[in-house]
Amino acid sequence: MALVGRLAFVTGAGSGIGRATCQALARDGASVVAADRNLKNAEETVTLLKEFKENHVSLHLDVGDSSSVNNNLDKILSKYKRPPTIIVNCAGITRDNFVLKLSEEDFDEVLKINLKGTFLVVKQFAQAIVEHGINNASIINVASIVGKYGNIGQANYSASKAGVERLTRTASLELGDKGIRVNAVLPGMIATPMLAAVPEKSNNKVFEYDSTGEIRETRR
Ligand SMILES: NC(=O)c1ccc[n+]([C@@H]2O[C@H](COP(=O)([O-])OP(=O)(O)OC[C@H]3O[C@@H](n4cnc5c(N)ncnc54)[C@H](O)[C@@H]3O)[C@@H](O)[C@H]2O)c1
Repeated sequence: MALVGRLAFVTGAGSGIGRATCQALARDGASVVAADRNLKNAEETVTLLKEFKENHVSLHLDVGDSSSVNNNLDKILSKYKRPPTIIVNCAGITRDNFVLKLSEEDFDEVLKINLKGTFLVVKQFAQAIVEHGINNASIINVASIVGKYGNIGQANYSASKAGVERLTRTASLELGDKGIRVNAVLPGMIATPMLAAVPEKSNNKVFEYDSTGEIRETRR
């Protein structure tokens, strides 16, 4: 129960990793705001948190839209009278295709949600944390191992996640002395609804550490 008294905000909370993150945070005692573009799924996540006693809520959120991010922040400040001090940027999408077939629209959409969406949440929530004089907060951005190594059929997604990693490094340099830690996690393939959309050709690739500690690509 290390997180008793902490307020957490999780984007992409209606599914997969975001939902599991909400459950882990609530189990450790945090109050959780579960935000997702799919409000019904975010509500279901909150239902799953009922066994943990704190004060959890669901919100509709489109991370690619700054006014929606701002609206979430306003609602949280109005309900809890303070900004969250744990922020997990989990919202993400794929629109996979080979570079030669990838449409400009699918490139833009993935960058908008995965990269710009992370930026908007980091910016607006960090601003609120600073304004409230809080100096112990943690932002966790969910990037991806394919942002480091690339992946067939995922030029847009890989680029967005590489961007998330660099955004994270830069934000951590700027916000560290304000008491806000900013970190990224780079998961490999995890069986969630997102993975169902990835073609088998890419999906069956996994990364593992070899005996020297280097990451190498392998196959299932
Ligand atoms: N599953 C994997 O193998 C894997 C690997 C590495 C990284 N990731 C990353 O982890 C995160 C979660 O992925 P997942 O596998 O749980 O996927 P998922 O599809 O199960 O969940 C993603 C959630 O994000 C929400 N979302 C999408 N666009 C949104 C928007 N504009 N605003 C708010 N919410 C939005 C969706 O509604 C969904 O609930 C993503 O950022 C993904 O890129 C996943």
